[in-house]
Amino acid sequence: MNIAVIGSGYVGLVTGVCLAHLGHRVICVDNNREKIKKLKQGKVPFYEPDLEDLLKKYLKTRYLAFSASIQEATKKSTVIFIAVGTPSKKNGEADLTYVENVSRQIALAMDSYKLIVEKSTVPAETGQRIKRTITMNLPGRFKRGSEVTLDFDVASNPEFLREGSAVDDFMHPDRVVIGVESKKAENLLREIYEPLKPHIVVTDIHSAELIKHASNSFLAAKISFINAIAQICDHVGADVLKVADGMGLDKRIGRRFLDAGIGYGGSCFPKDVDAFIRLSEKSGYHFNLLKEVRQVNEEQKNLFVRLIEDKLWIVKDKTLGVLGLAFKPNTDDMRNAPAVDIIHALQHEGARIKAYDPQAVPYARKILKKVTYCPNPYLLAKGCDCLLVLTEWEEFKKLDFKKIKRLMRHPILFDGRNVYHDRSLEELGFEYYGIGRGNIRK
Ligand code: UDX
Ligand code: UDX
Repeated sequence: MNIAVIGSGYVGLVTGVCLAHLGHRVICVDNNREKIKKLKQGKVPFYEPDLEDLLKKYLKTRYLAFSASIQEATKKSTVIFIAVGTPSKKNGEADLTYVENVSRQIALAMDSYKLIVEKSTVPAETGQRIKRTITMNLPGRFKRGSEVTLDFDVASNPEFLREGSAVDDFMHPDRVVIGVESKKAENLLREIYEPLKPHIVVTDIHSAELIKHASNSFLAAKISFINAIAQICDHVGADVLKVADGMGLDKRIGRRFLDAGIGYGGSCFPKDVDAFIRLSEKSGYHFNLLKEVRQVNEEQKNLFVRLIEDKLWIVKDKTLGVLGLAFKPNTDDMRNAPAVDIIHALQHEGARIKAYDPQAVPYARKILKKVTYCPNPYLLAKGCDCLLVLTEWEEFKKLDFKKIKRLMRHPILFDGRNVYHDRSLEELGFEYYGIGRGNIRK
């Protein structure tokens, strides 16, 4: 199948490269020419495991190409995925300017049947709006009065890719959701995903759009739920890890996404929860449950800062070492990373911040100023009054804490991700505080 993917960011690039791997001929497009130049050289502009290897492999073949021209990509393709950014407006609503702009350009370049598929997370009804935009902007030769003479379809095929494991998620999906209006569109999408032999859920376009919103909001709610439980655990002296394990064994609940911590971040959950609240409001429903999900998430960061302030007594002029900056492990992405708010709050109190992250430092330098970035965890620990774990990178599990203890001024560790749950640090003489591990009773 000849496929175009418009927008070569995290989602678009993973989609394009993986579709090439499935044997399709893919053109990935981006309006950032610098990005296209790098991609043509086989360089992925962000960190995502396995992606660069696949990119390099398929660049050498006829299956993968890059272009800055939507016109060229539209003409050469039957199916066009839209994966451009949908940032938040001030009121939380998704800004669909890029989606509209791209739809217009696709319409202007159309000369035969096309299936236009929304991949970006968009509010319900966007499918209809894309359809209208395309109809309005088709070249005059395809219009007879108000009638359109060129056949085309619009579909929704939301992504469920997690950063850090996006390639694996693409290759092994729990389900592929396709929202369509015609059998032709359904068959084309089925053909595209056929090699993965996935469980395909076929719906109308509105329902597919809502499946994406509802899934992300539900996962965010699950995280906020366990974070609320963690707060209670801290007060009653219970251990949230044991509570989560006990709950998770119930198959109706499941253990995944029940890890308490400093809250969810990233480019999706915060933005999608906001957008869903706005979308519901517009449709006349006040989604207060989701507002509380957002509130609990914000509170997690504040509570963590307050815990540090409480245990250190005076934060001003103390040196705090931060292990992990990215919003989750295996990515260099700092979008809405809890580390940003936490570090800003501590700096506001006069703390000196040192930080180490295996991948995110170049990104972090742009948004976190007055931070001393260290090349490894041991240089980070040197002279610190305490350490904070903000991202659960695998390498943090294997650190030599005997050495770290010797290097620190005071062996205190605030574990925002409950990485060290086996009490081994306490045995080494650390003062240890996790999330929901009975902190208040200590
Ligand atoms: C984006 C959306 O933000 C998200 O809601 C959706 O689910 C998937 O797509 P992501 O891939 O993480 O997420 O965004 P980003 O990495 O910013 O990539 C968007 C790309 O689109 C950028 O490379 C940008 O240069 C490109 N773009 C943007 C265009 O090619 N044309 C435009 O008009 C606008
Ligand atoms: C998410 C969705 O999982 C994916 O399906 C969607 O399409 C895009 O958004 P992503 O944001 O890449 O993916 O990462 P995810 O693994 O979902 O984690 C999001 C945030 O939640 C991270 O900050 C993570 O640390 C946090 N999290 C996750 C928790 O705090 N506890 C958990 O139990 C799980």
